[in-house]
Order: sequence, then C-alpha cells, then structure tokens
Amino acid sequence: MLYRKIIRPILFKTDPERIHHFVINFLGATSVLRPFYFLIKKFLFIDDPRLHVKIGNIELKNPVGLSAGFDKDITAPLAYPMLGFGFAELGSITNSAQPGNPKPRLWRIPEDNGLIVYYGLSNCGSLEASRRIKKKLAKRDIPYGVSIAVTTGLKENEMADDYVRSFLDLYELADYITLNVSCPNVAKCDVFAQVSFIEELLQKIMNIVSAQGACLSGRQGSVSSGKKIKKDIFIKIGPDMSYEDLDKVIDLCLKYEITGIVATNLIKDRSWVKKFNSSEEKLNHPGGISGKHLQERSNKIISHIRERAGSKLKIIGVGGIFTAEDVYDKMKAGADAVQMITGFIYGGPFTIRKINKELVKILEEKGLNNLQDIK
Ligand SMILES: Cc1cc2nc3c(=O)[nH]c(=O)nc-3n(C[C@H](O)[C@H](O)[C@H](O)COP(=O)(O)O)c2cc1C
Repeated sequence: MLYRKIIRPILFKTDPERIHHFVINFLGATSVLRPFYFLIKKFLFIDDPRLHVKIGNIELKNPVGLSAGFDKDITAPLAYPMLGFGFAELGSITNSAQPGNPKPRLWRIPEDNGLIVYYGLSNCGSLEASRRIKKKLAKRDIPYGVSIAVTTGLKENEMADDYVRSFLDLYELADYITLNVSCPNVAKCDVFAQVSFIEELLQKIMNIVSAQGACLSGRQGSVSSGKKIKKDIFIKIGPDMSYEDLDKVIDLCLKYEITGIVATNLIKDRSWVKKFNSSEEKLNHPGGISGKHLQERSNKIISHIRERAGSKLKIIGVGGIFTAEDVYDKMKAGADAVQMITGFIYGGPFTIRKINKELVKILEEKGLNNLQDIK
C-alpha cells in the first residue's frame, strides 16, 4: 500500500533506468550491513516446508526467483534473499564487457502492466562478473544462477565458443548456469535462437560438463584433474518460437541431458499481444515486452514442454507473474519453479513475501500438502 500509493509514484516520475540504478545501488549498499540484512530477511523471507522445491540439484526454500536482467552487473546479490526470493539468476553476462544499446533503453507501460526493454545485454563481462561473485557471494543463503549470453558483434562461427569462455569463467561459482539463447535486443539474435546453433552450443557445453579427468580452467579458478563437474544447466528460450522449433529444442535438451528450460524471455513479436492499452506513442520504442501480456503465451509454452518432456526436464516458468495465483497457474501448467521481474518492480519490496504467504493459503484452500501436489 505504502509502496503503491506513495513510493512508486515518486520513483515512476524519473527515467526507469536511472531509478533502477539508484535502487540496485541502494540494495547493494544496505544488504551488506549484516544486522539490517538479518532484520529485513527475517520479515520478508518465508520459509515454510510446503513451499520447498527441488530443481535438479538445487534446493529452494520457496519457488519464486529473481529473473535474469534485474542485476546485470552483480551489484546487489545479497539483497535477493533479504527481499524474500527463493533463488536469483544474475546477468545476463557476456564474455566481453559491453555497454549495450544507447540510452534510453527502458520504458514503462503501466497501462499494460509491462516494460519495454532494449538494453542489448549491457554487462561487466564474465571475468569481472566472476570476481564480483567470488567477493560478494562467499556466503549465500539462496542458490544463485548465472545467465550467460553471447557477446555482440561476433561472427556466427565464433558465438558458441564465446558462451564456452563465459561458462568456464562462471560455472564453478554459480549454483546453476542458464544459457540465454533468446535475447530479442541484439544484432543476430535470430542466429543464436536457431535450433542448429542450440545443438552446437549444447554439444560444446555438455562435453565440458561430462569431461572426466580434464583440467578445465576458468580465469578465476580451475576444476582439478579427475573431478567430474556436475552443475545444473538450463537454456532460456523466447516466446516467439514456433511449436515445431520448440519440439526440436525440447528434444535437444533431452538428448544432451540438461536440467531444463527457462520459459520464457521477452516478447519480440508484438503480434502475439491481443490488445495493448497504452497509447501508440508510449509503445513507439524498440525492444521486447515484459509483464502481463507475456503470461498466457509463456504458460502455453510451459504446458507444451511438460507434455512433450514429461518429468525429464525441469521448467522454470517466467513471464507476467504479479500474484500468488499467477505462480499457481504457472505451476499448474507444469513449472517446477518460477521467476519474475516486472511484477516485483510494480509491486515493490513486499511482493515476494505476499506471494509466498498467499501461495501457502492457496495450498490450504485446495487441500494440497505442498507445491509438488499442484499438477
Ligand atoms: C529490465 C529487464 C532486463 C532484462 N534483461 C534480461 C537479460 O539480461 N537476460 C535474460 O535472460 N532476460 C532478461 N530479461 C527478461 C526477464 O528475465 C524475463 O524473462 C521477462 O522480463 C519476463 O518476466 P516478467 O514478466 O516477470 O518481467 C529482462 C527483463 C527486464 C524487464
């Protein structure tokens, strides 16, 4: 109430990216103050056994994660358990640091409960990201994934190796890795979303993961000889993919035995949206759409993945979550856990607590013992 009626109108008067920087720097500075961290976390973090879930080897105290893109530069990683999230995905990180697209590149469309996002993968690069994770996340209260994407401007035949270099820098420090093959805001984004590219990438990454006896070195550390690396690997797909291609991608995930799929990234093809409420002027910006309009499409894709893959793939459902009912719907469609950004930006710091508390109420009302029973 306080956030929506007073704080949000003030924050929303300023340029969205400037406010984002202000908020994330504030979170970064305050979350390292241990008494403050524990006090706020005690209030906002819900730990109820009925909300515990496991995705691959990752154990979550609640199923609501922060989606990639909120903390692109590993600025405030400790803030996310403090705000109640059960896990957080940092990045997306590319091998070379890059500035992204020229500003402005983020716009609010409140009438559509969404954002127009045109960052173009601005981030500090995988080496610096690995240093920051090492420094800031020596102790962690929730699992952290790192999302890896491709450095902009590379030739097609250089792209998979670029992911591999970031992977080597980051895998040891992350609890799981997501290969983002779906950013709608960079040149050649259609190339790395292609099935043939995804196959090449999965082959290279899974060769590393299953390497026995090799010494695999990232620039911040190495895995010693003889040790088998076993990290959970996900790929993140976009909502614009045809069902034919989606089936091929699901089959590749099964063939290469990765943990699962994060579904989905931003809407690139706006013709999916039945009706926008914002004016033409507000919508007249380049970029992908987040929030409410993504919900139905992402839920359909989740159902499709679950139907084709059965229980062999884990699904992290993302797109248009604002309430506990939205989480329930995604889990009903087949998601094992969920992520969000836009609903958190619109809802404020109490959002995740509220969602988790209401999720417990939904379970009670429906006579379910835990989240696994939502099927
Ligand atoms: C400001 C912003 C930046 C984003 N940047 C990334 C990114 O770097 N990598 C990525 O995989 N997804 C990125 N996304 C997409 C989100 O992770 C998510 O898939 C999408 O916003 C749908 O979720 P939502 O409706 O809860 O926002 C970004 C989204 C937003 C709003």
